[in-house]
Amino acid sequence: MRTEQPKVIYLKDYQVPDYLIDETNLTFELYEDHTLVHAQLVMRRNPEAGAGLPPLVLDGQQLELLSLSMDDRELGAADYQVDDSHLSLQPVAPTFTLDSTVRIHPETNTALEGLYKSGKMFCTQCEAEGFRKITYYLDRPDVMSAFTTTVSAEQHRYPVLLSNGNPVASGSEEGGRHWATWEDPFKKPAYLFALVAGDLWCVEDSFTTMSQREVALRIYVEPENIDKVQHAMDSLKKSMRWDEEVYGREYDLDIFMIVAVNDFNMGAMENKGLNIFNSSCVLAKAETATDAAHQRVEAVVAHEYFHNWSGNRVTCRDWFQLSLKEGFTVFRDAEFSADMNSRTVKRIEDVAFLRTNQFAEDAGPMAHPVRPDSFIEISNFYTLTVYEKGSEVVRMIHTLLGAEGFRKGTDLYFERHDGQAVTCDDFVKAMEDANGIDLSQFKRWYSQAGTPRLSVEEAFDAAAQTYSLTFRQSCPATPGQAEKQPFVIPVELGLLDAAGRDLPLRLAGEAEAQGGNRVLSVTEAEQTFTFVGIAEKPLPSLLRGFSAPVKLNFPYSRDQLMFLMQHDSDGFNRWEAGQQLSVQVLQELVGQYQRGEALVLDQRLVDAFRTLLEDATLDQAMVAEMLSLPSEAYLTEISDVADVDAIHAAREFARQSIGQALFQPLLARYQANRAISRDTAYKAEADHIARRTLQNIALSYLMQSGRGEVLDACLEQFDACDNMTERLSALAVLVNSGFEREKADALARFAEYFKDDPLVMDQWFSVQAGCGLPGGLERVKALMEHPAFTLKNPNKVRALIGAFANQNLVNFHRADGEGYRFLADHVITLNAFNPQIASRQLAPLTRWRKYDAGRQQLMKAELERILASGELSSDVFEVVSKSLA
Ligand code: ARG
Ligand code: ZN
Repeated sequence: MRTEQPKVIYLKDYQVPDYLIDETNLTFELYEDHTLVHAQLVMRRNPEAGAGLPPLVLDGQQLELLSLSMDDRELGAADYQVDDSHLSLQPVAPTFTLDSTVRIHPETNTALEGLYKSGKMFCTQCEAEGFRKITYYLDRPDVMSAFTTTVSAEQHRYPVLLSNGNPVASGSEEGGRHWATWEDPFKKPAYLFALVAGDLWCVEDSFTTMSQREVALRIYVEPENIDKVQHAMDSLKKSMRWDEEVYGREYDLDIFMIVAVNDFNMGAMENKGLNIFNSSCVLAKAETATDAAHQRVEAVVAHEYFHNWSGNRVTCRDWFQLSLKEGFTVFRDAEFSADMNSRTVKRIEDVAFLRTNQFAEDAGPMAHPVRPDSFIEISNFYTLTVYEKGSEVVRMIHTLLGAEGFRKGTDLYFERHDGQAVTCDDFVKAMEDANGIDLSQFKRWYSQAGTPRLSVEEAFDAAAQTYSLTFRQSCPATPGQAEKQPFVIPVELGLLDAAGRDLPLRLAGEAEAQGGNRVLSVTEAEQTFTFVGIAEKPLPSLLRGFSAPVKLNFPYSRDQLMFLMQHDSDGFNRWEAGQQLSVQVLQELVGQYQRGEALVLDQRLVDAFRTLLEDATLDQAMVAEMLSLPSEAYLTEISDVADVDAIHAAREFARQSIGQALFQPLLARYQANRAISRDTAYKAEADHIARRTLQNIALSYLMQSGRGEVLDACLEQFDACDNMTERLSALAVLVNSGFEREKADALARFAEYFKDDPLVMDQWFSVQAGCGLPGGLERVKALMEHPAFTLKNPNKVRALIGAFANQNLVNFHRADGEGYRFLADHVITLNAFNPQIASRQLAPLTRWRKYDAGRQQLMKAELERILASGELSSDVFEVVSKSLA
């Protein structure tokens, strides 16, 4: 908890550390009611920090100091000062060894940061600043040390004792205890430290690296989950191979371990050689995990594995550089997933997510650059901007340099900085040096917040046979940044002729055409590109593959969008045209609703969807993506003032009209796909996933009809399927229907069958929390009383409270403000024991500027109530105070 005015930390104040820690030797004695931590730190004055011997200031929080000595001399109270976040003392020589013993209480650590207990096991989460809750230390990523860790615990409760690196010794002690020592030869910052002790089983496998070294692979889980590990293991081996093939990066220790824990604030953590995962990102089998969950496991396993190079071997100098490792690693895992599954579908999903959520963050009170200039609480900066926009920034470098140039850049980066803690500038410098180019203007993507607007105007000159595109870019003000300089915006594009073919692209001044698809760099506030040899007026396909994270504006007509939907050679832009068409149609319905008119759906959308459904040659995954209407959250994001009720009504009306108008083709697709699902064993592979996705989206449209035959089909799927994807989809369709008796029955049977599987129960909570039918808040409140619910488990909080506030907009934003009050109450409760989770759940309230005056008032009042509620964590304080500023 905050005991003093929270301090703002600035990037511009960065200084190298005064002291370094060459070796860190730790011993943990784990007991049921406390833990003792002995730390021996072999330290020296940092030669880069200047002359003299300044005081040594170690970080430490919630530690009970039991003893302290320097070079074997016991220190007394007069030799050091301790406050609630530091231990300071005066070194007398440039090299020395510091020994400390502290007592800590993992058994009562509810913040899930530092050393804590998840169920019966001990585990750690140290990034970003959790290590200071374990021992006194220089807890900053530019202090890198070689760690040796000994763990001792009761043998029968904790048969498995793990830490980073390689196991080097173990033994038993009297009194039923045992110990194990682990040695990590690679110097690392403390945020990559990990320890696990528990009664765990593991699945073991091995991987032969490109230089023929054998690496043991182990995934540890609680015994009841041992049958849900294979998918993660397969994903790990694929990741290891992919990183060798695509980046030339080989694994470096003899063993790689993953441990699944139930209580975890985030997705997973890349601790050296010992990744610790939220169980939701490891465990997956057909009967209990959906296709989406399988794909998330594959992506997160890859993400954490890839960090071994992009994060661990080369780490961050300070936390302002977080995107150095996170943006880059998200880009790496996205490309991996694209290679393992469907590239276009992966891109569509990522872009939809970015535009709905990161764009909202970038337009809100917490907007910050990919490399922030300041923060109060670093935990608040594990954001969509640092991760997802950071990944888009790396993708743009890849687009500008091409795959080969990019690889030259990463080779140089890893070679030049192996073993170092570096900055985003160092990353860009390696890209520049390897390719002989200048990225200085490009670097504004790291320093300027906000989503750029790019509007495009066309001009065709039939006589001269020229076609010009004029780009105008601007970027709205964000907190602390009133004015922005022009960005470098890579625009991938093509020009379609009347038959839908890409025209050869030749810019004025070029000797010959350079293909039908190319990347233009827009670098000025206003810039015109003229194509020559264009005989007829083309239709431009702009920002193919979403080549830059901007809001593009070109005045397409609905007929032009339908043309692009059918003919664009870029799959992403075919989807994008469909989305823009849907947006136009839905916004028209919103207007009709607001004016009190009868809602009338533009028949062209129905026709476009019919064409998709009736074309058997199309990729089913693409058809499913294209049949998905933009979410209410996205429609909110692109509104100036979001009319929650109108958006909900418009979208529901469109879904209903489509379900009715296309009942026959939807039913045909549904039945064909369900028949195959019925006869095929579940596989989490792209073509199977595509079939189920289309099947389930068809079912949800069909259910809009309320017909008994659809109910029967839905119940058949619910009862007879062999996998969670079909079962949960059927359940969701029932939950959102008016078949009250069947709904209640299905929910009850599902909960009875899966009551002992917490991850499945999370899905059961989420499906209900997301139901937009009236009475949503009351249903969520009732579910909080369910025996499987607890606020102490972050996954449960996200499944129920998070799903309600983020995915059930019409109920969360009910006009009397009760949804806001509910969320604020729980933020206040969570603040007292898990500040990180409290702060994250708060996000929907910070978006108050998007709503009408009445809702704005109510939302602000709840933020103010939180602010006045007592002792706030720095996490919650920062978000609330910035949102009200
Ligand atoms: N580095 C982790 C990742 O791969 C995230 C851990 C952040 N944890 C936290 N409590 N802030 O994304
Ligand atoms: Zn990461």
